[in-house]
Amino acid sequence: MTSIKNHRHHLSTEEQSLRKGIILAGGRGSRLFPMTHVVSKQLIPIYDKPMVYYPLSVLMFAGIREILVIATPQDLPNFKALLGDGSQWGLEISYAPQPKPEGVAQAFLIAEEFLAGSPACLVLGDNLFHGRAIGTKFLKASREVEGATIFGYTAQNPQDYGVVEFDEDGRVISLEEKPAKPKSKYVVPGIYFYDAEVVEMVKKLEPSHRGELEITDLNRVYLEKGTLRVDLLGRGTTWLDTGTPDSLADATQFVQVLQKRQGLKIACLEEIAYIQGRIDRSQLEVQIEKYQNTEYGEYLETLLE
Ligand code: G1P
Repeated sequence: MTSIKNHRHHLSTEEQSLRKGIILAGGRGSRLFPMTHVVSKQLIPIYDKPMVYYPLSVLMFAGIREILVIATPQDLPNFKALLGDGSQWGLEISYAPQPKPEGVAQAFLIAEEFLAGSPACLVLGDNLFHGRAIGTKFLKASREVEGATIFGYTAQNPQDYGVVEFDEDGRVISLEEKPAKPKSKYVVPGIYFYDAEVVEMVKKLEPSHRGELEITDLNRVYLEKGTLRVDLLGRGTTWLDTGTPDSLADATQFVQVLQKRQGLKIACLEEIAYIQGRIDRSQLEVQIEKYQNTEYGEYLETLLE
């Protein structure tokens, strides 16, 4: 769905999710100082695009149209300047400030009014996903009405993430946030699908010892209710996060190498919008105008062929 240029796959009516999307792009990005002293981490580039394009593309693959971007009050104007109202990609983007970072799950409290009782998909603004399974698995998760869907991915440093442990039959038996002694090599990437109950569930959470509303605690509530699905992202799916200078460089190199080799862009929002039928040819032409004399614009031109 993503990879064959000019092969348009319009979202069918049932693929157009009523679920609303949230991009959490808050935080001070202190692990990337001095890079992020005056620029939000989620606005610095991964190779040829601002970081936030990557999680935004993921919400588009999940068939979502209405999206809330959460960032610090200082950074919000820059996100607005970059993304606007989203109509150029057939989206509806709105914005909300996170004055103080108090955990990933806080996003749902900030988003309460925006969600207005809809199911939600939260994606962290510094996570990059790539691969064919992304389209299918995220669309599938988006169509579930009840419960929650999260994902599992093998990592060499599970202690840095939420860790999910399975029994022999593949049932989830534990979820732990950054455990000193991880019980498995499966970690939970920063994309989460929840039903309409999510805001009420978050309201009942207690802050963790580090004073944060932990997304892992929220997932544990769904686990205990018996309504948590954990889908594994296997070989052929790439998940990278970009919290340190090294992981940022890895992500940049990944995008550079793949794009150069295939001549296909990752997270080109105009392309995805066009392929999915969110925008038509004339709307794409308007975007191309904006990128005259750029490599990005030349790429967009080829979509018209
Ligand atoms: C957060 C979550 C963690 C998850 C990770 C994915 O951690 O708390 O469970 O595995 O995102 O990127 P953070 O990066 O905020 O420390």
